Amino acid sequence: MKIAVYPGSFDPVTNGHIDIIERAAKIFDLVHVAIIVNPEKTPYFDIDERIEMLRSAVRRIKKAKVDSFDGLLVDYAAKKKACAIVRGLRAVSDFDYEFQMALTNLRMCPDIETVFIMTDYKYSYLSSSLVKQIASLGGNVSGLVPKMVLSKLKKGRASYGNTRTS
Ligand code: PNS
Repeated sequence: MKIAVYPGSFDPVTNGHIDIIERAAKIFDLVHVAIIVNPEKTPYFDIDERIEMLRSAVRRIKKAKVDSFDGLLVDYAAKKKACAIVRGLRAVSDFDYEFQMALTNLRMCPDIETVFIMTDYKYSYLSSSLVKQIASLGGNVSGLVPKMVLSKLKKGRASYGNTRTS
């Protein structure tokens, strides 16, 4: 059984993330979509909201399971018996950060490879931060995020940039 972990902040999940999960599920038998609980960062959506949105968005992808983790990613991946960490690559600008992270993780855990999946060109410009910014300024993000995210962004619009930070 080939198991992978697809980690991220998912604050919030976008259709670009979903595309990567769908494609990872074609390669691996099981994909743990793992949301980081980072005590140093204050996300826009709390961990329960992020889990709820991701679970609803990947319900139809049978090989994907949503989970959360804290601490080192390689420790989490080893605990899940994963052979790979999946990351999406959008553009050259992602490369430095991803390269550094992949090599650091490989050094800490040589048995777990990082596998990069190129984002579909339709989502190559898309990021969670952009989505939050557009939504907060009243722009239309339908088609860029799952339905539940869209409605949560609409509800939270009044508070974005006010009480909530990202
Ligand atoms: O969606 P993001 O914010 O780009 O995801 C970053 C993430 C969660 C993959 C990264 O911050 C991470 O792996 N954090 C866990 C801590 C860790 O293992 N750090 C060492 C990796 S170099």
